[in-house]
Amino acid sequence: MKLLVTGGCGFIGSNFIRYVLRAHPDWKIVNLDKLTYAGNLANLKDIKEDSCYRFVKGDIADRQLVNRLFKEEEFDAVVNFAAESHVDRSILDPSPFIETNVKGTQVLLEAARGYPVQRFIQISTDEVYGSLGPTGKFTEESPLRPNSPYAASKAAADLLCRAYWKAYDVPVIITRSSNNYGPYQFPEKLIPLMIRNALLGKELPVYGEGKQVRDWLYVEDNCQAIDLVLRKGKVGEVYNIGGGCEKRNIEVVQMICEILRDHHEAQHLTPKIRFIKDPRGSAHDFRYALDCTKIKEELGWEPRVRFEEGLRLTVNWYLENQDWVEGVVTGEYLEYYQKVYGSGKGLAK
Ligand code: NAD
Ligand code: DAU
Repeated sequence: MKLLVTGGCGFIGSNFIRYVLRAHPDWKIVNLDKLTYAGNLANLKDIKEDSCYRFVKGDIADRQLVNRLFKEEEFDAVVNFAAESHVDRSILDPSPFIETNVKGTQVLLEAARGYPVQRFIQISTDEVYGSLGPTGKFTEESPLRPNSPYAASKAAADLLCRAYWKAYDVPVIITRSSNNYGPYQFPEKLIPLMIRNALLGKELPVYGEGKQVRDWLYVEDNCQAIDLVLRKGKVGEVYNIGGGCEKRNIEVVQMICEILRDHHEAQHLTPKIRFIKDPRGSAHDFRYALDCTKIKEELGWEPRVRFEEGLRLTVNWYLENQDWVEGVVTGEYLEYYQKVYGSGKGLAK
C-alpha cells in the first residue's frame, strides 16, 4: 500500500504517520505538507530516515505539484489531513481556510480522478453539523449547519467529496471526528494552551463561563479508527468518530490544574483561571456530541483511552517536551495571541 498523507506534519497527521509505520511496516507513505505555522518537521523527527517514508514540502492547492506527485508515485490511497484547523483564526481571516480546505481538497480530488486511487479518505470534523443544545447527538445523517468559517470550509470540502464520488466514482470516504487531544498538538488549542500557560505562570483564559461542551477523543484512538476506515470502510459513506466523553471546558481546565498539582515537577505552580469575554461571540458552538453506532457496528471500533488517563498522558508529554513547545511557538504565535486574548474586542471586530 502506498499512501499519500497530506498535512502529516500537523498534530493528527504526525500521530497517524507514526501509527501507520508501526501497524503496517510494509506500507509506504509520502507526506505532502506546506509547513504552515501549525506544521513542524520536529513532529516527525524520529522517523525522518525511515525508508518507508518520504517528505515533500508543498501546497495541496498547487495543481501542478499535486498532479506531478500522483503521476510519479502511483498512490493506492490518499488521507487528506491538510487544513487550516483553528476556529479562532478562521473568524479573524477566513481566506486561507477557503484556499486550503476547499480549493486544496478539490485539487486533490481532481488528481485522484485523473490518477485513480483505491480510497480517498477525507478527514472532516463534527463541527460541520453545527451546535447542539443540552441533549441529543449528531448522526451521519444530521444536516450540515456550520457556524464558523472553519466549519463552513470543512462542510464545503465534504460536499465536494460527495460530488466527486457521485459524478466521477472517486472512492471517497469521510470521517468526522470530535475534539482530539494528545502529544504534538499546537498550543493554540484549549488543552495544550492551558498546559503551556500554567507552566509559564500565565493566566488560563476560559471563554465566557466555560460552559461549552466538547467530546474528547485521544488522538491515538482516532488514528486507529482512520486506519480501519481506510482498510474496511465503505466507499461513499461518512463515519462519525467520537470519544464518548463530553466535558464542559471549565471541567477540562480544572482537571489539567489537578494533574499539574499532583506532578512532582509542577507542584510549585499555582495556575489561575481567568474567565474572559467570549472572543467567538455567536460563532461559538455550545455543544458537540456524536452518535458513533455506525463505526461500532460496521467496523467494530470503540475508543480505548479514558479521558482521565489520556489527559494525564498528555500533560506528562507536554511537561517532558517543553523544548518542542517553545520551538513551535514563534513571533507569529505571540502576535496571534495578542489579537485573541489581548484586545477584549472579539475576533469578528
Ligand atoms: P493542524 O493544524 O495541527 O495541522 C494541519 C497540517 O496541515 C499542518 O502540518 C500544516 O502545515 C498542513 N497544511 C496546512 N495547509 C496546507 C496546505 N495548503 N498544503 C499542505 N499542507 C497544509 O491540524 P490537526 O488538528 O492535526 O487537524 C488535521 C485534520 O483533522 C484537519 O483536516 C482538521 O480539520 C481535522 N480535525 C481536527 C480535529 C482536532 O481536534 N484537531 C478534530 C476533527 C477534525
Ligand atoms: O470538534 C472538532 C474540532 O475541534 C476540530 O474540527 C478543530 O480543528 C479543532 O480546533 C477543535 O475545535 P474547537 O473550537 O472545539 O477547539 P479549541 O481547542 O479551539 O476550543 C475548545 C473549546 O475551548 C471551545 O469551546 C473554545 C474554548 N477555549 C479555547 C481556547 C483556545 C477557551 O475557553 N479558551 C481558549 O483559550
